[in-house]
Amino acid sequence: MLSRYLAFLLISWLTVREIESRSFTVDYDQNSFLKDGEKFRYVAGSIHYFRSPEERWESILQKARLGGLNTITTYVPWTSHQHLPAMDFNYKGNLNVFKFLKLAQDNDLLVILRPSPFIDAEWDMGGIPSWVLWENPDIKLRSSDLDYNYHVARWYDELLPRLKPFLYSNGGPIISMQVENEYGSVGCDKNYTSFLRDLLRHHLGNDLVLFTNDGAADPNLKCGSVPGVLATLDFGPEPLSEIKLRFDLERKHNNGKGPLVCSEFYPGWLDHWQKPHNKGKTTVVSTALDNMLEMGANVNIYMYHGGTSFGYMAGANLDGDMYDPCPTSYDYDAPLTEAGDPTEKYFAIKSTIAKYMEVPKENPVVKRKAAYGKVALELYTSVHDTEFLTLFAGRSIASSSALSFEQLKIGSGFALYQTPIDFKTSDPIVLKTPQLRDRGIVFVDEEFVGILSRTENNFAIPIRIKLGQTLTVLVENQGRIASGDAIGENKGLGNNITLGTRALHNWTIFPLGEIDGKKLLKYSQGLKDKSLQIKEDFFSAIRNRGSARFFAGNFTLPRGTSRDEILDTYVRLDGFNKGFIWINGINLGRYWPVVGPQETLYLPSTFLKPFPDTNTFIVFELEQAPNACLGIPAEYSGSSSVCYITMTDTHVIDAPTPYDGMTTRTSEERFWQRT
Ligand SMILES: *[C@@H]1O[C@H](CO)[C@@H](O)[C@H](O)[C@H]1NC(C)=O
Ligand SMILES: *[C@@H]1O[C@H](CO)[C@@H](O)[C@H](O)[C@H]1NC(C)=O
Ligand SMILES: *[C@@H]1O[C@H](CO)[C@@H](O)[C@H](O)[C@H]1NC(C)=O
Ligand SMILES: *[C@@H]1O[C@H](CO)[C@@H](O)[C@H](O)[C@H]1NC(C)=O
Repeated sequence: MLSRYLAFLLISWLTVREIESRSFTVDYDQNSFLKDGEKFRYVAGSIHYFRSPEERWESILQKARLGGLNTITTYVPWTSHQHLPAMDFNYKGNLNVFKFLKLAQDNDLLVILRPSPFIDAEWDMGGIPSWVLWENPDIKLRSSDLDYNYHVARWYDELLPRLKPFLYSNGGPIISMQVENEYGSVGCDKNYTSFLRDLLRHHLGNDLVLFTNDGAADPNLKCGSVPGVLATLDFGPEPLSEIKLRFDLERKHNNGKGPLVCSEFYPGWLDHWQKPHNKGKTTVVSTALDNMLEMGANVNIYMYHGGTSFGYMAGANLDGDMYDPCPTSYDYDAPLTEAGDPTEKYFAIKSTIAKYMEVPKENPVVKRKAAYGKVALELYTSVHDTEFLTLFAGRSIASSSALSFEQLKIGSGFALYQTPIDFKTSDPIVLKTPQLRDRGIVFVDEEFVGILSRTENNFAIPIRIKLGQTLTVLVENQGRIASGDAIGENKGLGNNITLGTRALHNWTIFPLGEIDGKKLLKYSQGLKDKSLQIKEDFFSAIRNRGSARFFAGNFTLPRGTSRDEILDTYVRLDGFNKGFIWINGINLGRYWPVVGPQETLYLPSTFLKPFPDTNTFIVFELEQAPNACLGIPAEYSGSSSVCYITMTDTHVIDAPTPYDGMTTRTSEERFWQRT
């Protein structure tokens, strides 16, 4: 009762009586949900608060409501909220889940919450923080492993009491919560899922509706369903006959009764670097939705707004053996674009919903984008620079083995591995790193000599290196695997590293980790006097090609542009190869335009400063910068003598890729190829 009155204080426009009359339950016999005792059906859409700037939440939620939804669904990404093992939790900025919940309610939307520990979501390690691997490398994630359960219980002790006032029965918007996530496709440890169910019940009471969701196959449901918890399914826009089979299966696992629920209905699909952009055909999507609504089903559209995996948190998948990292854009070909604009699909879905329930008349419009143009950049430092390494790695570690990121106690980002060559070498000589995860940029005395790539199964490279020279490998964690059996793997250069016939075992390691944008910004400002800025001669620039280098550039928005007048824009990095980019210290994510399908990065207006303030871009190019960026005299730098990036009004996430027309795809991707 106490929490009900606390909730009353928080959500003060509801009277005590109103709160007491609120209930949300499953009526198995009537095959329905009941809200305040009345039959209720939700048409929901997934929106991830952590994939948009917080200033955008309100307008995205408004558009969800205007699009006819009565409910939204979100995950809670544990790794983002508790990024280090300390009991120090982050709910700031776009991690303020409580503000998001309140905004949803203010905009007349109910909330289905998927509270972790595992979320997949193509988020780094499926949302489980990688520090759980530090102390116990043999920890069994997503099981009743005691160490894992201990971390989960501590996190739930922190999170769930804070969510309690937001439950529907306490006056808030949350009508139900998920237990694990598609668990039946990886495990069958019912002790684990019962443990999660009991923790949720312990903190939130026995009345809260709990559900599981699983891929639509009998074995998944057998292992994924939990006693006392509503079993639901995830599936795309299948033909009617398939939809019927799916719902029959769902009923079978709920004792033949209960509401029909599709918890993840796919209007599009996720992307991978180097593979074609996935799309969902509007007519196929709206027809399947129509069929489900006709059957009285509850549907959650995954994603309704996909958003952006800013920073280091875009995850990866395995396609067979192939390591497949996900791009920065999580557009998903969803009804609302990455920038939150309505699409043809948005309106088709709204019209479909309108056949079954009342939808608002008003329609949102597409917001204008700006082409703010070119910003000149200059080289300011490099990963090989001692000053930089001291400041950003903090320490160097001498070790006979090339320690993993987990042994170094870093999560994402980078580690630099160096070893002196103290023997006579053959010419060429092959460097082998059979356990590399995920990409290694190889240098001999700071000269760029090539790339090792896990995705390409490219674990060996012939190089020329002589006695007395130094071998350096900059390793990038390209994103932790977000689902399946391989989550929880180590990152780093790996074991069994050889050069020719010799094992290499005298490493100096710089654990850079997640290079911090605010610190980079400050450092670039400190370099204004140029005394510390690295200098390159023509020949060293040719040899290093601008790899592992930082470039910075300032600009101001057009004269008179006030905060309200700033528009969204997209960043093009023509001539750059692969890396990260920050605006005003905010990490916009990975860029890799040479492979696609994503060529531009979304830059929301809220990250920019109005006229006459200075905005600063910092680019960390890992492999190859345009000649004009290397201080090479104009007559040798091709078409431009100016090093620049461009802000354009056009987003390109559907560019050709090296794997266009390939045959090894996930089943969902194959599904989309058929439709
Ligand atoms: C589940 O718990 C029971 C009772 O404690 C135990 O006998 C069983 O081995 C456990 N199963 C697993 C998979 O841990
Ligand atoms: C690879 O390294 C591991 C651990 O250092 C060692 O146990 C194993 O024998 C090595 N394998 C080969 C093929 O050298
Ligand atoms: C390891 O390399 C360092 C230089 O980086 C050198 O001073 C040291 O002697 C080497 N140690 C061994 C055991 O070879
Ligand atoms: C950008 O402007 C700041 C001052 O506003 C200055 O400290 C910094 O050095 C400038 N950076 C570049 C790359 O010009």
